[in-house]
Order: sequence, then C-alpha cells, then structure tokens
Amino acid sequence: MKYVIGIDLGTSAVKVLLVNQHGDVCAESSKEYSLIHEKSGYSEQNPEDWVKQTIFALKELVDQENVKPEDIEGISFSGQMHGLVLLDENYEVIRNAILWNDTRTTKQCDLIKAKLREKLFKITKNPALEGFTLPKILWVQENEAQLYEKTAVFLLPKDYLRYRLTGQIHIDYSDAAGTLLLDVVKKEWSKEICDLLNVDIHLCPPLVESHAFVGNLLSEIAEQTGLKQETKIFAGGADNACGAIGAGILTPGVGLCSIGTSGVILSYEEDRNRDFEGKVHFFNHGKEDAYYVMGVTLSAGHSLSWFKDTFAPSESFEEVVENVNQVPIGANGLLFTPYIVGERTPHADAVIRGSFIGMDSAHKREDFVRSIMEGITFSLNESITLFRNTGKKIDKMISIGGGAKNDSWLQMQADIFNTVIFKLENEQGPGMGAAMLAALGCKWFATLEDCSNQFIQISKSFQPIEEHVNKYKQLYEIYRDIYPQTKEMNIKLKFFRE
Ligand code: XUL
Repeated sequence: MKYVIGIDLGTSAVKVLLVNQHGDVCAESSKEYSLIHEKSGYSEQNPEDWVKQTIFALKELVDQENVKPEDIEGISFSGQMHGLVLLDENYEVIRNAILWNDTRTTKQCDLIKAKLREKLFKITKNPALEGFTLPKILWVQENEAQLYEKTAVFLLPKDYLRYRLTGQIHIDYSDAAGTLLLDVVKKEWSKEICDLLNVDIHLCPPLVESHAFVGNLLSEIAEQTGLKQETKIFAGGADNACGAIGAGILTPGVGLCSIGTSGVILSYEEDRNRDFEGKVHFFNHGKEDAYYVMGVTLSAGHSLSWFKDTFAPSESFEEVVENVNQVPIGANGLLFTPYIVGERTPHADAVIRGSFIGMDSAHKREDFVRSIMEGITFSLNESITLFRNTGKKIDKMISIGGGAKNDSWLQMQADIFNTVIFKLENEQGPGMGAAMLAALGCKWFATLEDCSNQFIQISKSFQPIEEHVNKYKQLYEIYRDIYPQTKEMNIKLKFFRE
C-alpha cells in the first residue's frame, strides 16, 4: 500500500494526515502555535513556529504508524490564505507574518481603490479588503520602509513552509488569487497593478498549479522527520480551495459551508465572466482552470473559541456546546453578531465589532452559546443571500470543519440556510484536499474527480424543518438590522480600543 501526506497549515494549528490509496486516514497529528496580537486589529505569527511544529507533527505521524517511509510517496499542502511572509535575498524571514485576519490596512485599501478603480475588479475580480496580501505589502512599504527595502520575495504561509521543506520558492494560483496581484483569468502576475502601486513585480514568486511537482525533501528535513528524501512534494492550495477539494466540490451543484476559525460559504464556478460586482470573493480553484466564489465571516469558530477561552477556559468545546439543544430557537431572545475582529461579507468593515442584543437576567450560559452559534450561522446566511440574489441556486450544501462536528449545529445550518446539509464520512477538512492534490500529483488518479469518487463519502443528511425555517426567517430579519444600527457606535468606540 502507498500513502500520501496532507499538511494543513491553519491559523491555530498545523494538522498532518497520512492517507492511503483508498482514501483512509491511517494516522494524524496536530500541533498548535500562537497568534501575536500586538494591538487591536493586528494579527501576526512567527513563521518559524509553523516550521518547527510541522516537523514535530510529521515526526509524530511517521513514528505512529507501522508504515515504511519509502511507501509515503508524496506530500502536499493547504494553508491559511493571504498572510504575508517577507524574505530577504538570502531567503531569511524579515518580520513576523501578517495574517488574513489582521485589519490594520484600511488606509492601504483606500489607496488601492483610488489608484486602480475599475481595473482592480477587472484584473483581480475581487475588492480591496484589509485581509488580502497587497494591502499588507503596501503597509510595510509605508510603515517599515527599511524592512521593505530588504525584501527580495514575498510568500504566503504554506509556500514559506514548503520552501523550508524543499528549498524551492513557488506559489500556486489558488493562493496567488488572494494576493490582489494576480490577473485571475490570465493566470499571471499583473504588471499593471504592480506598476501603479509601485511594487516591484520581481517580489512575486513563480506561479504553479496546485498539483504541480515542485521538488523533494531537503536531506535535513528527511532526517528530522524520518521521511525519505525522495518523497515528492506538490505545491498545494489555499485552505478554502483545499477544503472544497476535500469535500468533493469539483463541479457545480453542491455548495460548501466551512466553519473553522473563519467561516466560508463557497460555490464552484465555471463561468469566469460571471459578475458578482465584487460583493463576494472570486478565486482560482485548486483544480486546474476552475474557480470558486465565496463569502467570508471573519470570526466563525473564533467567536466560539473566544467565548470558551474567556468564560470557560478549563472546559472542552464539547462541554461548552453540550446543552445547546435544550435552548429554544432564538436563544430566549438573545442575538449575537460575530464581528469580534471586524467583518468581510457582506459588510467589508474593519471597524465594526460584535454585539449581544437582548440580554436578560434570566439568560444562562447556554443561551449565550446558542446565540453565538446562531449568530455565526446568520452571518454565513448573509453570503448565501448574496449568492441567491445573483441567481445562484443553493439548495444542497456540504458542511465541514468545527461546524460539522455537532449535529445540532448541522440542523441549525439546514434550518437557517433552508438547504439540505450533508455531513461527510470521516471529514478531514482542507488536509484531505491537500492529500488529494498529492494523490493526483503521484498519478494515483487521472483527475481530482476520480480521486474524490474514491476518497469522499456522504454519511448523513439534515433536511430543513419548515417550522424552524420560519422562526429563523423572522430572527434573521432582526439580525440584519444590527449591523446598520451599531456601525456608527463602533466608529466612535474605536478610539477607546487599545
Ligand atoms: C479567506 C480567508 C480565510 C482564511 C482562513 O479569504 O481569509 O478563510 O483562508 O485560513
């Protein structure tokens, strides 16, 4: 039997999966690392932590199983999107990585909009959002000129990790699309955008397909992990592209709801000329020459982990959400908006913050937990509303990530989205998509679709319940009023945030 490894470099941890030719996960290992929040709105990580923890996780994986390292044929990657890693001419890291959920770059987004106007949307098919990579590059250019001067190339998180494992510098199209520097249709760096914003195009790394072979393991990495130096390394993709691959979203028809740190509603798109007026993200898929559109809730699982870490630090997630089903729909009149680090879709707003509306002295902790889960799901439903308003039919979705681990939450998704929700057998999220890219790269299958037919199975479905759907429709209308009514207050409150 042969094996591949999928490495998912997430925001809170790296997860590695050992997958055999049937698609069975034979072993897994996960290692955490921390976020650095120097100021409100700042979110950084030390790239060295990614490398150290990945090596630990790979070693643990290889030690765990009775698998011969020579039978592990290939490795590929999935990574948190948009994060900026700057390297000097010796490929040494210049500063901490600035992550996707860092919102310091509003001024740079305004500059991009002013300089590029309609060109931005024509070339990148996306709006200028604080989380994307180009505004971060411009922030360093403006605020840390000495560091910027030293920069020879930029990478995204999983591309830096792959560089440290192989010594080779690349980026794949699905992650390049999230930089705002890629001509998404022509699949090349945009010289026009670089020139207009004074970014040297040579800072952009070479582009490859997600299943492209990019090299073998460096000998010291082979030694440290117990893997063979000959192990083939394939480029990999953005975590949302890999989440879609790992859920078999490779043709139109079924949408994806992914609730991790962020939350995503994603739909496969073949028509590269379809116009979403920049209201949703439009990115290259990890499948060659395909695309996907998506809306993003910045703090999905993060809202729940914030609540747990702040009010129940010694409990597990399972304990925190245990009684949620005993609370009625609407959490006894409590509504939550998950804007705790700002929002992306449909309100691209770095200043907005979350609210609990309707707090009552009778509320118990489980009311808060239910209102957080409902608030996250309402926020994701706003992306679904956007898609539906452009004529996209969304009536079946696969749910993955933390939101798929709890049956009450899956039913809540079916009821709030008013769609059938499918749960996967042994769901592994983006790490499985990464393993599938490695399987394709190793030529185990002719296409990702063939691989998906072998690897991915649906285990359970959740049908929307009419009575719930109607109650949630009423609550959703109230939920949608919270953003416009709290926007101004949050602009004033911003000055009190440290
Ligand atoms: C997508 C986004 C997040 C990250 C999470 O645009 O910023 O979903 O990819 O890792």
